[in-house]
Amino acid sequence: MVDRGARNLIFLSRSGASKPEAAKLVKELSDDGANVHAFACDVSDESQLKEVLRKCAESLPPVRGAIQGAMVLQVRTDSGQLAQMIELT
Ligand SMILES: NC(=O)c1ccc[n+]([C@@H]2O[C@H](COP(=O)([O-])OP(=O)(O)OC[C@H]3O[C@@H](n4cnc5c(N)ncnc54)[C@H](OP(=O)(O)O)[C@@H]3O)[C@@H](O)[C@H]2O)c1
Repeated sequence: MVDRGARNLIFLSRSGASKPEAAKLVKELSDDGANVHAFACDVSDESQLKEVLRKCAESLPPVRGAIQGAMVLQVRTDSGQLAQMIELT
């Protein structure tokens, strides 16, 4: 996206830029000329998400697109719990 001209990127994850690989990506993209922000935010928490978007609206252009890649996998071996999860979905 940055190679194709994107200049303002925000990344949301619960850990923000605290992990070394996240900090490295922020630096690489910034070095390429992008304005990059990595916020610690649980996207399933509406109030946290609203607060981050409010902050972004103060200094960044309007959001033009969003890519959702958040995921948490839970592997369970208990057949009763598995049956319950299948029923819930
Ligand atoms: N890996 C594969 O082979 C594969 C294949 C097909 C599809 N996908 C899909 O691609 C997506 C990403 O997969 P991945 O392998 O890249 O997983 P991943 O490395 O575990 O990345 C998931 C990301 O989601 C963030 N996250 C999780 N819960 C969050 C929340 N509540 N709020 C904000 N951020 C949250 C995590 O950061 P924090 O923990 O810091 O929040 C992490 O950065 C998923 O939707 C997955 O279904 C993956």
